[in-house]
Order: sequence, then C-alpha cells, then structure tokens
Amino acid sequence: MKIAVLTGAGISAESGLQTFRGNNGLWEGYNIYEVATPEAWNKNPTLVQEFYNMRRKNVLAAKPNAAHFALVELEKYHQVQIITQNVDDLHERAGSKNIIHLHGKITQSRSTLDPNLVYDIQGWELKMGDKCELGSQLRPHIVWFGEAVPMIDNAIELVKNVDLLLIIGTSLQVYPAAGLATEVDTNTKIIVVNTEKIHSFSTNANVQFIQGNATVEIPKIVEELKVL
Ligand code: APR
Repeated sequence: MKIAVLTGAGISAESGLQTFRGNNGLWEGYNIYEVATPEAWNKNPTLVQEFYNMRRKNVLAAKPNAAHFALVELEKYHQVQIITQNVDDLHERAGSKNIIHLHGKITQSRSTLDPNLVYDIQGWELKMGDKCELGSQLRPHIVWFGEAVPMIDNAIELVKNVDLLLIIGTSLQVYPAAGLATEVDTNTKIIVVNTEKIHSFSTNANVQFIQGNATVEIPKIVEELKVL
C-alpha cells in the first residue's frame, strides 16, 4: 500500500516538545509577528535567533517517541512517505527514510543571500555574526509565516497518489499544509489521530477520526496496517 503521513506538533508533544496552539501552546507565550516572520527578522534578528536557539536546545534534548518509531516499523510493510510540518528531527532520529519537511529544519541554518546554501548547525546556538560562505548572516532554515512553502508542490503530488493518508497531531489551521487533506483522491482513506476533535471532513466518507494520544494510537494503527 502507498501511505502518506502528515504530521504536526502533536506527534512530538509526548517527546516533550510544545505544540503551538491551545493550552500552553508556544503561541500563547510568543507573538508570531515578533519571532516568526521575515519582518520580525528584519526588525530584531537577535530576538528571532534567541527564540529558535531556545527551541533548538529543546529539540536536541528530546527523543523520538513510540509514535515516531511505529511509523518506522510501518515502512517494513508498506511504501511510506512522511510529510511533516515539524521542524524537529525526531522522524529522522527514529529512522524514517522518506521525509519532507514543509516548514524547514531547526537543526539547519541558511544563507540570507542564497537560499540554496543550507548548513547543519553544530550544537544549539546560531549567533549573529555566524556567516555563510558568501559572507552573509545565517538565519534559521525555517519557513516563516508569510514565506513561500517550496516543498508543497511535491507534497501535493505525493498525496494525490496514495491509498491512505494518515494525519497525526495537527490542528490543520495552517495553510498550505492543511490543504493537503483535500488533495487526495476520493478513493483514498484518511485516518486522523488527535487528542482533540478537529475538522469534520464531512464531505469525505472515507475519513476515520481516532481521538487519543499519538504514542498510544499510532502503534495500534500500525499493527492493524501490517496485515493489510
Ligand atoms: N497526540 C495526538 N495529538 C496531539 C497530542 C498527542 N499527544 N498532543 C497534542 N495534539 C494535537 C492537538 O490537539 C492539536 O490539534 O496536536 C495538534 C497540534 O496543533 P498545533 O499546535 O496547531 O500544531 P501544528 O498543526 O503542527 O501547527 C502547524 O503552525 O505555527 C505553525 O509552523 C508551525 O508547523 C507549525 C504549524
């Protein structure tokens, strides 16, 4: 079977990484427009760096959980493509092979002069004064609000051709990622796993909603998918 998995912050919540919305969400304590937009970077790059340095520190201290590992197991039985909105590297560290990061990677930096110059960050800190090989300041390799999402076209192509779309731990409030759920073929089954009820998808009869924690529900789903 061909399976695409769209993941959001909820899959990493039980690894200790904060989600964005809802109670105790990251956006309760920070203003998006002051830390996660190109305007914020132009106005106060030091503040933006500090925000991502803090989050990078948390990501480096976190470990993949049972949901990440179950998705690796799924690869033994099916063709699996992960499409994640997460900027953490927990899918990689768990061992998943095919991963698209729609919103970039917090463990990488990129040139402010040439977006194709991307580097791995050693440790947690990216500083003002850290420069690319062309001499321009390095920024976090993150897609900020208001910026294009270069990987979205690949993701749309992928979800159009799958038998199953598994949507885990995302509020589906941020586009274009949220729109992927509506790009699938009418025959494609969709399974949504979330601790809270989201989106009804009422127009698509093929949607199954499972309310629960990713670390509990994903291993169960993977067990069931093994025999299909
Ligand atoms: N298991 C399953 N779902 C969970 C869990 C869990 N343990 N914990 C939380 N959730 C669910 C929440 O109910 C919520 O619906 O995960 C979802 C997280 O939603 P958001 O915080 O909005 O995160 P996400 O959808 O990934 O955000 C999208 O917004 O700010 C941007 O760039 C950021 O990539 C991010 C994008």
